[in-house]
Amino acid sequence: MSKDCLTMDKLVSHCKTVGFVYPGSDIYGGLANTWDYGPLGVELKNNIKRSWWKRFVQESANTYGVDAAILMNSRVWEASGHTASFSDPKMDCKECKTRYRADNLIEEHSKGAVNPDLMTNEQMEAYIEEHHINCPRCGRHNWTPIRQFNMMFSTSRGVTDEGQDLIYLRPETAQGEFVNFLNVQRTTRAKVPFGIAQIGKSFRNEITPGNFIFRTIEFEQMEHQWFCHAADSAKYYDEYKQKAWAYLIDLGFDPNELRFKDHDKLAHYAAAACDIQYLFPIGWSELNGVHNRTDYDLSRHQEYSGKSMQYLDPTTGERYVPSVVEYSIGCDRLLLATLCAAYDEEQLEGGDTRVVMHFHPYLAPYKVAVLPLQKNLGDKAREVYSALAKHFMCTYDEAGSIGKRYRRQDQIGTPMCVTIDFDTLADDTVTVRDRDTMEQIRLPIADLVAHVGSKVEFY
Ligand code: GAP
Repeated sequence: MSKDCLTMDKLVSHCKTVGFVYPGSDIYGGLANTWDYGPLGVELKNNIKRSWWKRFVQESANTYGVDAAILMNSRVWEASGHTASFSDPKMDCKECKTRYRADNLIEEHSKGAVNPDLMTNEQMEAYIEEHHINCPRCGRHNWTPIRQFNMMFSTSRGVTDEGQDLIYLRPETAQGEFVNFLNVQRTTRAKVPFGIAQIGKSFRNEITPGNFIFRTIEFEQMEHQWFCHAADSAKYYDEYKQKAWAYLIDLGFDPNELRFKDHDKLAHYAAAACDIQYLFPIGWSELNGVHNRTDYDLSRHQEYSGKSMQYLDPTTGERYVPSVVEYSIGCDRLLLATLCAAYDEEQLEGGDTRVVMHFHPYLAPYKVAVLPLQKNLGDKAREVYSALAKHFMCTYDEAGSIGKRYRRQDQIGTPMCVTIDFDTLADDTVTVRDRDTMEQIRLPIADLVAHVGSKVEFY
């Protein structure tokens, strides 16, 4: 194992070369902070979403999914506070006109030792002056004052040019869950406590220092709101911290590369908040958040919509606005962490190196590669491929030596390679090679579906 070798640049290059992630609008020179998922990336992403949904909806009692519209009534964002205060402290270099987040400049300069979340704009300006932080692009020191920029993307709707309404691309999926609290509770007859979960796109006009898909302007979130009585919210907050942690461990993350980090500064409505951070090649950074949001969200929607968000407890007769424990994780960010955790360069006997992605088999883009030892075994190999493809994402490769073909599958993380040889024609058995151990076993073709199925489960 030599994981220290992984840099973000190396990962970006590997992802582009094999087809996980490409720069957005590539042939036009790209568009900053946008990325496209290629044939492998889309499989990996779908599998991540499936694993999350399985864990947090399918296997979670009293939890229901929604898929709310990206465009919502603008009053939603007034109620949530995004219109007034969803902003970043930005400053421009007067020399080269590049725009930066002041908090990012301070964080990077102090290598994480200073927390700019605890500073006012004036304090940040003073820090940048005092420490003579220069423009990372042109190296000069001539800054505008810090200004707050709202991060919501706006657009307009209407059938005529006059009377256009300003609307926003949602900056988080969470509001889709809050505004459907009454609908879901009524239609499912759920009793509090219950959960609403959603996976979907969010949009933020972020200025970022690069870092691949860590922070992008368009991304997917997997968010889960647990509606409960205020008296129970601390207990559920702890429970969701543990559930969030267990999910990552069960996906194969090394606990030494994860840590909890309590927020230094709580939002005025939050009773508690923490992140799970992952040790990315750029250092410890947020992977997901867990928040005890009190009854702020439903109370605000009650105030702005005029609809009562109160729940009548059928057992105690108590009426109250439920509190919310939120667990939120970026799908793209989890995908990035998954790529980082899986990437390995192994030294082999004889001096060779192999690049191998040790994905959890459930997440691997292809579960099986079917490889005929020689091209004239193609008919039998295609037969095996078609039988397996009814159950799993499979790939087929007949080009090059078998060793080269194994390496190609290793570098995209395919957990099993099934090789068809001349014995296969005689006895209907195949060789199955394991990605991680490189060990091979001989199996009847009739047992393949059950064998592969048992290796790619996620519990
Ligand atoms: N509803 C709460 C919320 O949206 P957040 O901390 O702003 O909280 C939750 O976002 C998660 O979404 C983060 O932990 C991160 O994984 C992901 N995320 C946030 N902004 C992102 C961005 N610009 N690009 C990629 N992922 C992002």
